[in-house]
Amino acid sequence: MTNILLVGALGRLGSAISEYISSLDKYKIIAGLDININKKNNNKYNIYKNIIEIIDQNIKPDVVIDFSAPWALESTLEYCLKTISPLVLGTTGLDEKQKEKILIASETIPIFWSANMSFGIKILENICNNIVEISDNIFDIDIIEKHHNKKIDSPSGTAKLIARSLKSKSDMLYNTNKIIFNNNNLELNKSRDKDEIRVYSIRAGNITGEHTVMFSTEDEILTVSHTCSSKKVFARGALRAVDFIINKKTGLYNNIF
Ligand SMILES: NC(=O)c1ccc[n+]([C@@H]2O[C@H](COP(=O)([O-])OP(=O)(O)OC[C@H]3O[C@@H](n4cnc5c(N)ncnc54)[C@H](O)[C@@H]3O)[C@@H](O)[C@H]2O)c1
Repeated sequence: MTNILLVGALGRLGSAISEYISSLDKYKIIAGLDININKKNNNKYNIYKNIIEIIDQNIKPDVVIDFSAPWALESTLEYCLKTISPLVLGTTGLDEKQKEKILIASETIPIFWSANMSFGIKILENICNNIVEISDNIFDIDIIEKHHNKKIDSPSGTAKLIARSLKSKSDMLYNTNKIIFNNNNLELNKSRDKDEIRVYSIRAGNITGEHTVMFSTEDEILTVSHTCSSKKVFARGALRAVDFIINKKTGLYNNIF
């Protein structure tokens, strides 16, 4: 049995992970953490508002899973370092300083951190890298991502992950220096530069997550697309990451597939 502390327990992902785990024998959530404990829940475990309460209760999980919000990172890291607990981190929208803190913490504890834990997105990334590899830098590359209207970060962590991956492949193969433009820094009043990878974000309705990569020339358009129809895919990925990381001593990991 693997005992889990779930940070962000009452959120969309936290709820999906709770529900998925309740159908399995191998894992048990021993406590949850969520700042919004007023939300209704039917969980069989206690949910605390503050990490101090969890420390006071002497709760010691085998692993911590955090799918919450960027501002929760510091206290999650502090707790994991204090209790030497492995961490599976799915939260997106982290800044450079926070990424540095994750790297430093991973010298003491094992951390699995990925902006997207679905198998399909890993395949999409591989296919798109392959297209870059065989296409002699002929394509304009655009990434269009769509998510529900409650999502707080934009572009999505997954879109950034794909953009960086394609940039690094192009730069390496074609000696380019591609620049990633997104909604926030897009210069729309000028014609497109060959070395741009553009990322567009749509926030609407209840979309779980869609990522499309579009490769265009003047004569043809090739699109590779992934649609997430259930959050279960992330819950499954998170538990795969738990199994992967649980016996590691230290280090930062991001690939389970
Ligand atoms: N890595 C992946 O595969 C993947 C997939 C989907 C979403 N995500 C990311 O997971 C995160 C959560 O997504 P969501 O859709 O569940 O969001 P959500 O807003 O529905 O849930 C977040 C939960 O975290 C709680 N929370 C906020 N601050 C907290 C704090 N300081 N301490 C404890 N709990 C806190 C909120 O009250 C909320 O219940 C986001 O960053 C999202 O981008 C990652």
